[in-house]
Amino acid sequence: MESLLHYEGLRGKVQMVYIDPPYGIKYDSNFQQRVDTADNEPDDEADDVLTIKAFRDTWTLGPHSYLQYLQERLYLCRELLADTGSVFVQINDDNVHRVRLLLDEVFDSKNYISQIAFQKTTSQTSETLGTICDYLVWYAKDKASFRYRQLFEPKTLGGEGSKEYTNVELPSGEVRRITDEELDDPNRLPKGAKVFATDSIVSEGGSEAGSKDIPIDGLVLRCGENRHWKCGVEGVKALWRAGRLVKREGLRIYKRYFNDFPYIPLNNVWLGLRGEAKKDYVVQTSATVVERCIALATEPGGIVFDPTCGSGTTAFCGEKLGRRWITCDTSRVATNKTRQRLLSGLFEHYKTSNGVISGGFRYRTAPRITQSSIAYGREPEQVELVDRPEVDPDAFRVCGPFEVMSLGRYSLEDWKGYVVREAAGVGEPAKLENYIEVICRLYRKDAAIQGASGLVHAVAETEKEKIAISVGPVSGRVTAKQINDAVQDALASGILEVHVLGWAFEANVGEVKSQLEARGKVKVELIMIRPDTLAEGLKATQPEMLFSPLALPDIKVKLKRNGKGPEAEVTLNGVALFDRKRRHTEYKHADSGYISAWYIDEDYDGDCFVDCQMFFDFKKAPNLKAALRAEVDPEEYKLQLTSQPFPVRGYKRIAVKVVDVYGNESTVVHDLK
Ligand SMILES: C[S@@+](CC[C@H](N)C(=O)[O-])C[C@H]1O[C@@H](n2cnc3c(N)ncnc32)[C@H](O)[C@@H]1O
Repeated sequence: MESLLHYEGLRGKVQMVYIDPPYGIKYDSNFQQRVDTADNEPDDEADDVLTIKAFRDTWTLGPHSYLQYLQERLYLCRELLADTGSVFVQINDDNVHRVRLLLDEVFDSKNYISQIAFQKTTSQTSETLGTICDYLVWYAKDKASFRYRQLFEPKTLGGEGSKEYTNVELPSGEVRRITDEELDDPNRLPKGAKVFATDSIVSEGGSEAGSKDIPIDGLVLRCGENRHWKCGVEGVKALWRAGRLVKREGLRIYKRYFNDFPYIPLNNVWLGLRGEAKKDYVVQTSATVVERCIALATEPGGIVFDPTCGSGTTAFCGEKLGRRWITCDTSRVATNKTRQRLLSGLFEHYKTSNGVISGGFRYRTAPRITQSSIAYGREPEQVELVDRPEVDPDAFRVCGPFEVMSLGRYSLEDWKGYVVREAAGVGEPAKLENYIEVICRLYRKDAAIQGASGLVHAVAETEKEKIAISVGPVSGRVTAKQINDAVQDALASGILEVHVLGWAFEANVGEVKSQLEARGKVKVELIMIRPDTLAEGLKATQPEMLFSPLALPDIKVKLKRNGKGPEAEVTLNGVALFDRKRRHTEYKHADSGYISAWYIDEDYDGDCFVDCQMFFDFKKAPNLKAALRAEVDPEEYKLQLTSQPFPVRGYKRIAVKVVDVYGNESTVVHDLK
């Protein structure tokens, strides 16, 4: 969020923030271990859940730590929001009261808009009252100028907002009360029957012209003492002629038919949603909830931001509704889940009003027939249903282009608070020494720290082994040069095993490792440091949960010539998978079910990976019969292991990125020269 403010220039540009943070209870339930299933297996316990438990379950100061965590993020949200913008915070009843107070503080109580209860389940497992709702707490950045569009829900007979529809008009003109059976099942209404509520056609206060008796069709409509006709004498005649008045002497009753406007304005109780039927993520929010918020608070083309992405519901709904979106998460499972959900998504194509999304969509409209529209012979008002854009039946959309970025320095700003020992000196050098010492000690308690002057930062020595440790920079990637230099330094001191720890690695480090090891002398381990290793407020954790070997994909590249020039074709053979329980890396064949997705950059520039071809393991073919009116071949939804052939282009270099089912990414670069 800091980077969005300071480097992307997004201060005041975001129209809506949707944040569904961990609820401040049972942190482990917020996380998912695998990309391919929302079921966290007990057998996988030594993997992420354990890590996460250790990390999240033990915020040192309980609710204080939680509120502190949230407060810092909410202040940043406020800075990102436009003056017309809104924030929605999703939370449950354990902490809604605390979070609401926090929001009062950060956004000011005068900017409070609503607290929405939305149904998440129907189950009532409680000794007292069942809890079936979670909450959305909605604040505007500035209530005086915030953007709001009213939404409507279809009315149901006998339902909330329709209780007054208690009369039935039969085709014969007869009028009677609706029966309970008809309310329970409107199909029991006689054919052609119209259900209606009644409104008066007079108001208080008489006047000579406006209160005249009206003789019509052998009856006389009397206005009554000290009353006037709401729509004037001519208006009443028009209502009579339109058959809108109950034809009985002495009555002044207007029939408001159920279908005059079969919608009611949306209120702050959202029932009947019941969560996502098929969850991709263990704590996935119902898309309807997020879509409603987007429709309430933003226009097409506006930016929505979700700092706790999970399975990417906000991004997905934003993409669907033609909003721009930004989202982030600390979990690699979440970001990969989201990438796959977006890239494999199929969206309806909406009709725009002037050809561009920012010009707005054409929405379905509903005519609102009112007493006055009939009385004055006016066309009924056309109410826009802004959460129901008109669908173009001849087109479908796939996701537009987006970028995935990993953070370097921002995720690590926290580390400064972690250092306990007195700094050896002052300023940057002391800070660097501190950083290196903290990381080396987390990795190996027994490490003898060498300092920051060379590239071997520490040496761990037991009877059996002697290992040189080199730590990558806080704000960047481990480069090939660092690995080479660390190995040279180690060899110079007679050490034959080098562990390079990093937050991120250049894509070609695998090649470098292989080249160095191929010379037969030295063993090089590339070790990933978990992104939240140094986060403040989290309890100190065991080293095996903080580090894991960098796994590199095993690929085969075939070069062919065709008439136009050389062509390449990539086959994925396998990937190295780290088994946390047994603490070793295992080679897995590409078809063994451990690969969730892989991507090819056909012309890698050495910096930014561009997905040119992508392959997913969908596990199960989707049912597209309804959406596309097409049968799908289940084979097409199996993970394909060989790419389409593609021409060798300018850089003569490709990169292949593989994501395993635990969300670990690894990239290998291959020269085509
Ligand atoms: C309740 S889930 C969000 C679920 C999401 N609404 C969905 O529909 O899938 C909370 C998410 O916040 C992420 N998270 C926790 N702490 C975070 C942090 N400091 N920064 C970013 N994301 C964080 C977790 O990894 C988790 O995916």
